[in-house]
Amino acid sequence: MSVLEIRDLHVTVETDQGATPILNGIDLTINTGETHAIMGPNGSGKSTLAYTIAGHPKYTVTQGTITFDGEDVLSMTVDERARAGLFLAMQYPVEIPGVTVTNFLRTAKTALDGEAPSIRQWTKDVKTSMTNLRMDPGSRSATSTRASRVARRSVMRSFSSRCSSRSSRCSTRPTPVSTSTR
Ligand SMILES: Nc1ncnc2c1ncn2[C@@H]1O[C@H](COP(=O)(O)OP(=O)(O)OP(=O)(O)O)[C@@H](O)[C@H]1O
Ligand SMILES: [Mg+2]
Repeated sequence: MSVLEIRDLHVTVETDQGATPILNGIDLTINTGETHAIMGPNGSGKSTLAYTIAGHPKYTVTQGTITFDGEDVLSMTVDERARAGLFLAMQYPVEIPGVTVTNFLRTAKTALDGEAPSIRQWTKDVKTSMTNLRMDPGSRSATSTRASRVARRSVMRSFSSRCSSRSSRCSTRPTPVSTSTR
């Protein structure tokens, strides 16, 4: 069970006019398994919140806290946040010829675990996740389809639960919380 807690969050963004306040006292708690839809008018700060959680350098927290399982997210670097499961999903991923989603994900998994999963097991896992989502497993060779983005998310979640039962290294890792923004 993981929990992301945002308390009294105030954020400014650097503009040509200097630091401009955007978020003024956001409170939000997200527990494992919950899906939160953040709604608001254009320019109200939804993306600002997502960028701030992910650690975008243009956004400065002037007050408040963000913690993940009690750990201070604001003192973590962007890559540390990503490894903990806090990252922005790519809504419009850049297609890189020759880089398949399968390999992209395997590389990420290797970075998390410190060792590469066997290709055989990996291919099986990706296929299973895609089948569970009723997606055409053939689409995993594409890098920019909506289907592949969904597959990526599913695969990350399934790793998390498998990790929990396998190694102490993985067991401390929370379920990824991904956000998508535009
Ligand atoms: N990098 C930036 N540089 C300058 N101003 C910014 C930046 N990011 C956000 N802002 C300003 O902060 C305010 C909130 O913008 P933000 O993009 O967070 O809103 P949003 O709720 O995501 O809007 P939308 O629904 O259009 O996606 C806007 O006034 C925007 O102009
Ligand atoms: Mg936005």
